[in-house]
Amino acid sequence: MKLRIDYTKMMRSGENSQGWPERRLEEIQERLGKAQRALLKKREHRELDFSKLLSEMRTQAVEIQAFADSLPGEIDNFVILGIGGSALGPLAVQQALNPYYYNELSREERKGHPRLYVVDNVDPERFMHLLKMLDLKRTIFNVITKSGSTSETMAQFLIVREALQEACGEDYARHLIATTDAEKGHLLPIALKEGYKRFVIPAGIGGRFSELTPVGLLPAAVCGIDILELLDGAIAMDRLICEEAEMKTNPAQLLAGLSYLSWQEGKTISVFMPYADGLKTMADWYAQLWAESLGKRYNRQGEEVWLGQTPVKALGVTDQHSQVQLYTEGPNDKVFTFVTVEEFTEDVVIPTDGSLPEDVRFLSGHSLGELLAAEQRATEYALTLAGRQHRRIILPNLSPNVVGQLLILLEWETAYMGELLDINAFDQPGVEEGKRGTYALMGRQGFEEKRQAIERVGEKRYSL
Ligand code: PA5
Repeated sequence: MKLRIDYTKMMRSGENSQGWPERRLEEIQERLGKAQRALLKKREHRELDFSKLLSEMRTQAVEIQAFADSLPGEIDNFVILGIGGSALGPLAVQQALNPYYYNELSREERKGHPRLYVVDNVDPERFMHLLKMLDLKRTIFNVITKSGSTSETMAQFLIVREALQEACGEDYARHLIATTDAEKGHLLPIALKEGYKRFVIPAGIGGRFSELTPVGLLPAAVCGIDILELLDGAIAMDRLICEEAEMKTNPAQLLAGLSYLSWQEGKTISVFMPYADGLKTMADWYAQLWAESLGKRYNRQGEEVWLGQTPVKALGVTDQHSQVQLYTEGPNDKVFTFVTVEEFTEDVVIPTDGSLPEDVRFLSGHSLGELLAAEQRATEYALTLAGRQHRRIILPNLSPNVVGQLLILLEWETAYMGELLDINAFDQPGVEEGKRGTYALMGRQGFEEKRQAIERVGEKRYSL
């Protein structure tokens, strides 16, 4: 089953006078074609490995699955230590494809799979609450870091390693997995010396594009998600995106073309609003992908451009009761992407009770799924009335195959958008600067000058 895209309300029609005439899309097609040629060339030259290596990942997935299946039965918890691209993808896929309250289920209900925790921060309270709660002898920690040097992840790792040494003695290394680069970084030599199980993040795939590598595949497999299906969905969508030459048939071209046109017309904010709780963290993942890839100071010629479109994550219907007021009556500086699911695995009918007043009784006999869909439609209507453009990604269901399609589609949309904006979507100098600042302030050797520079900036203070 394939995902679909409805972009009617981006286009001009009787009730949608602010939409674009078809001519606008025809005009942008030439640029999209050029972008496709450039991207496919990059793909051939191994500069687009998130797509190019999908079939290799499919082969590796068999080994990953075998490892996941071999985890001893006494392992109750699987904990990811990582941040950013090393945490958000695994979280998004787990929430989309496993029951919302997965960790609260009994082991039997989880079909023997361990609970999953993703520590994507260094908040000391939360971290210690987790460590105190876990039986370390029944826990495996998967340290995920592409660079092998991110302070947050390495700090989490060092704390956990010591706690494991205390709790498990010589056996501690069996509780650690290192998912990192094959050659670089500081985690690798420790993992090799101490004999941790290792998984490799391919050199050419950056954090936010790495969900369909061991970064995301291992945790998913450990938690019982069918990773072969996830990859099959991604591979089918990837093929379509590589083969189809026009936005009429190429979903990545279509999404990127619409995003680019909206950005050109001053829509500086892109709201991603799934109508499914299972996709709430998918919105976090997408926000990172969009922000970190496209928010750039320099274009590819090195000129200062200060570009980007600010992603906002929202959840339907929850945010209908908070943000939608702004969306309909605030500034017209946003473009909206809804994501809906046609068939949920569960639904429930609202009970019928003839004694209820008519103003409540109208709900009776409808299902919660119907209510959710009606609310989404009503929000679309309210936005259309207010002259706001929106589009919808329609998922037939939340299955591994469909989620695989969605992940790769959004990655490709981002790559296309980078091409159209003429920026490098695959670096993150702003994030790296923050990482270097942290090294400096935490006293890492070689960063003394940076530390002085930071302290100079902080000399004059205003506070109340
Ligand atoms: O997308 C990115 O490159 C970043 O968000 C990284 O994933 C994040 O900074 C963590 O980096 P690393 O995996 O190297 O520890």
